[in-house]
Amino acid sequence: MQPITISAPGQQPTPNRLYICTQPEDVEALVLTENEAEFVAQQKKLKKDFVVLTRIGQFVALQFVKHDEVPAKRLESCRKAGAAVASEVNALGIKELGIIDTGGFWHECMATAEGLALASYQFLKYRKDAEDKANSLKEIRIFSSKANTDETEKLNILVRATCFARDLVNEPVNKLNAVGLAEALSTRMREAGGKAEVLNKKKIEALKMGGLLSVNLGSPDPPTFTILEWKPANAVNSRPVILVGKGVVYDTGGLSLKPTSGMDTMKCDMAGGALVGAAIAAIAEAGLPVYVMALVPATDNRPDGNAYVPGDVITMFDGTTVEVLNTDAEGRLILADALAYARKFDPMLVINFATLTGAAARAIGPQGIVAMQVNAQNEFDTLAVCGERVYERLVQFPMWDEYREMLKSEIADLKNIGGADAGAITAGKFLEHFTDYPFIHCDIAGPAFLDKRDNYRGIGGSGVGVRLLFEFFRNMS
Ligand code: BES
Ligand code: ZN
Ligand code: ZN
Repeated sequence: MQPITISAPGQQPTPNRLYICTQPEDVEALVLTENEAEFVAQQKKLKKDFVVLTRIGQFVALQFVKHDEVPAKRLESCRKAGAAVASEVNALGIKELGIIDTGGFWHECMATAEGLALASYQFLKYRKDAEDKANSLKEIRIFSSKANTDETEKLNILVRATCFARDLVNEPVNKLNAVGLAEALSTRMREAGGKAEVLNKKKIEALKMGGLLSVNLGSPDPPTFTILEWKPANAVNSRPVILVGKGVVYDTGGLSLKPTSGMDTMKCDMAGGALVGAAIAAIAEAGLPVYVMALVPATDNRPDGNAYVPGDVITMFDGTTVEVLNTDAEGRLILADALAYARKFDPMLVINFATLTGAAARAIGPQGIVAMQVNAQNEFDTLAVCGERVYERLVQFPMWDEYREMLKSEIADLKNIGGADAGAITAGKFLEHFTDYPFIHCDIAGPAFLDKRDNYRGIGGSGVGVRLLFEFFRNMS
């Protein structure tokens, strides 16, 4: 997809305009004819917060900002309004749109532009009619006395990063296997000015990453372990924050096979890996003064003659033995190796992102992220505030000691499943075993992949987590 550019130039805008205001009077009399002003006033009375005027050859719309909403909600309303405008302007074939601040609405203008750009995302690369289907909007210009080009530049980076994560999630496994994912993430990271290293199967074997290697046994393709690093000289932290992302490029369940119905969405099982890679590259591109690393263990999970089986006892990277009772609980196995590997960098904080459990999706649906913490309540609170701001909200689940009981095995140190209850938490407790640092775990099984449009988040990969992390590191710097 050709990216949309968002800019904030000084001169007067293009003919197609969206005015951000609180009341019709904020828009200069010259812009509206008497009839139009009357129409807008009437719509406002009907409590409409978005009014489109039908003019030949010109798109003019007004968006009323709700003053009584708390800031985070107000900005989300603007993103949603941006999504509504996106469908109008793209239907009209408009290429360029001006967003006009009628007074003190810079942040609202930015949020509207964000919603517009994200809602215009399409994944058309495998369609013959891609050119005809492509959205028309290419440029958004914000006109505001408070215009800040550094902020628009960062917004462009962020929108592109979100779309990059969406692209990776939308790619099917026959087009993007573990090697492809590692290449895509490391190429992007190097372009952004950071470092990237990909450990191949030989290296992973030498390191004895038993979790990743066991899940990979049923695959015709080798596993990969991608290490990304952004360490600027002016970093505010001396010990890294490490992001870990689940990179299961396809999850059939393995021999504990999933039902066919709905299995197609399991190409999204690398959404955690995609989002941490997209986020760290965006952080590098924006030059944020933070020391961050990302680790992405990747493989597909398939049944095969050689595949790991329920009952196997496997030895993990850190020496822990795990009794595998369900090969569909594979994410925690590959992540455990990455979490144990992270220890050698002495991180100040590790944040994990994974489409880990159906239980998380069932608990809160696509509206938020099921999250847990170990020795990181302050950092968690900060991340949760960032989540409110970008509307990728966190719901904290408990990590009480008692849940660990559910992972006890008769013959090994741990088993890879808990019981019927608290599935998202027992998965988190399993991961905790492999950590010795402040740890936050985000289960994105609910919001990672959408089966219907939700405003500026379309069908398919949502790119969830990229905006959350970018906000977190902007805040930290
Ligand atoms: N990748 C799935 C989790 C998932 C479910 C992601 C729905 C996205 C949407 C994960 O590997 C899995 O299969 N988890 C099992 C664990 C169970 C066997 C303990 C689950 O949640 O059913
Ligand atoms: Zn699974
Ligand atoms: Zn999975």
